[in-house]
Amino acid sequence: MIAEQPIGIFDSGIGGLTVAAAIKHLMPEEQIIYFGDTAHLPYGDKSSAAIQAYSVKIADVLLRKKCKIILIACNSASAAAFDLVKEYVGSKAHVFNVIDPVVDYVREHYPEKEIGLIGTKTTVASNVYANKIEGLNRSIRLQSLATPMLVPMIEEGFYKNQISTGIISEYLNHDKLQSINALILGCTHYPVIKDKITEFYANAAVDIIDSSVIVANSLKGYLAYHNLLVTKRVKVSSDIFLVSDFTASFEKTTKTFFGEQIELERYPLWE
Ligand code: DGL
Repeated sequence: MIAEQPIGIFDSGIGGLTVAAAIKHLMPEEQIIYFGDTAHLPYGDKSSAAIQAYSVKIADVLLRKKCKIILIACNSASAAAFDLVKEYVGSKAHVFNVIDPVVDYVREHYPEKEIGLIGTKTTVASNVYANKIEGLNRSIRLQSLATPMLVPMIEEGFYKNQISTGIISEYLNHDKLQSINALILGCTHYPVIKDKITEFYANAAVDIIDSSVIVANSLKGYLAYHNLLVTKRVKVSSDIFLVSDFTASFEKTTKTFFGEQIELERYPLWE
């Protein structure tokens, strides 16, 4: 493996773009290959078996594209398929997920505090955050709430209207989240509505834990440790965006994050 190989990133749709954008911001010399599995979106209400099948197939695509890292930029897939993808990939690339860096962050910053977690049904039902946080032995109390309407809302481009405001406040007003010190955005789609969530907590002392930035920082440290960080590239290769199904909303959001010149390539997983 050499540093000049690309970083492969995948999610069910636009969510992982929040992580990809944070990575590009922190490490502009790196080339990104992004796979949005728009044909199978949303992952959050699929079975673990289905998510595992999609994830392994995508990992295979990213390996063919010679990625040095396969970053599962989706909490639902990190919860359901991380171990399997790691086993499948073996020594051909490093596999990274979006949950462990957040758990490390919480261990460092929130001992003995109460933390909220919002995520998809798959992520919350997997108890992956609850188990990992309990394993820290830091007396951190976790309150988890599945918020399944947020992904379709975001994929529809509803970030800042009455509907999104209503849905967000309905969820955040839930009893479980009334005495938290911080809220983990446990789905990579949610940073897109971070402003709205911050606005909701305008008069409360609740920190918003945005995994996109935390994961990007953690990945940079990991690459540097493994001598896989591009420090100076003569010519930066263009980033590549693959989608299993072409959707106008994916194109629009990708352009918002990465600029008008990006091109999407349709790459069906099965044909
Ligand atoms: N962005 C994803 C996550 O972090 C998946 C959302 C979905 O497809 O349901 O869980």
